[in-house]
Amino acid sequence: MPSYAVIGASRGIALELVRQLAASPDNVVFAVVRNIATSTHLTAFVTESKRNNVHVLQADVVDHVALKAAATRAAEITGGSLDVLIHSAARMEYTTMFKTLTDYEDDEKLEEDFLEYFKVNTLGVTHSINAFLPLLRQGTTKKIVVISSIAGERNIAWDLRIDVMAAYSASKAATHMVLTKYAVLLESEGFTVVSLFPGMVDISATAVGPLSADLLTDIGSLLEKFKKADPNVDLTPLSLENGTRSLLEAIHSFGPADTGAVRSAEGHTVARVVVDA
Ligand SMILES: NC(=O)c1ccc[n+]([C@@H]2O[C@H](COP(=O)([O-])OP(=O)(O)OC[C@H]3O[C@@H](n4cnc5c(N)ncnc54)[C@H](OP(=O)(O)O)[C@@H]3O)[C@@H](O)[C@H]2O)c1
Repeated sequence: MPSYAVIGASRGIALELVRQLAASPDNVVFAVVRNIATSTHLTAFVTESKRNNVHVLQADVVDHVALKAAATRAAEITGGSLDVLIHSAARMEYTTMFKTLTDYEDDEKLEEDFLEYFKVNTLGVTHSINAFLPLLRQGTTKKIVVISSIAGERNIAWDLRIDVMAAYSASKAATHMVLTKYAVLLESEGFTVVSLFPGMVDISATAVGPLSADLLTDIGSLLEKFKKADPNVDLTPLSLENGTRSLLEAIHSFGPADTGAVRSAEGHTVARVVVDA
């Protein structure tokens, strides 16, 4: 009975990972969410699908105590082990996401935003890995995959001259380093630790609300930079189902030879361009 913990599973890619993993009755799936009460899409899926192999656990990734409690509950269900940890949770605060380093009203606001991104996107990954590590050590595959972002790639920021998404990008870049440290730390134990780019995946179906006109303009300007760098790049977002399916195929294919790597899944064109660069 392969077991999976998916962190940040209330909506988006992680919810779809839960949905696809749960389709195999042999899998035991832990859907870890910040707040069960507001995870309406996940609750609807669990209720309507009548899957009894999905266990919903509550833990905000900034709360290491709650994550450890979630891991303890998972261990009670599996008998102490976990095979695969997939961390997808991330702060993407649309009101500040596209700010450059000089766009903030004042330095306090900049500091507040940076620290919050770092807390959720970088330390959150650390807390979830540390919480589930004792279970993963007892598992058969010892696999940790974190869904990352090309926004955290230094060469992309420079080559494409992307000054926006400063705090988000810095937190995602720091996450790459955190994963490298885990890969080194756990290499001798046979762990596979991979950072996986999702490319552009359409998450609108489970989004909290519609994107504002300003945000759509910012996204458009960003995509123009990709197009300018490579006129042949495919900027059509992948459907949630297809994009997630190829992420899952990639996750299944990873083994110890991939540890420490940054990967993208087949079909995720933008991310592939970056990984190949
Ligand atoms: N979709 C894309 O095209 C794309 C592109 C590049 C990278 N990514 C990466 O892919 C991953 C998944 O993003 P997505 O596209 O699926 O976005 P999404 O639909 O906005 O999902 C984000 C998830 O993170 C959760 N989350 C945020 N803060 C949390 C916290 N403190 N504790 C626990 N959970 C928290 C959210 O939970 P709540 O419902 O409680 O807010 C939500 O479930 C992220 O790491 C993102 O950076 C996505």
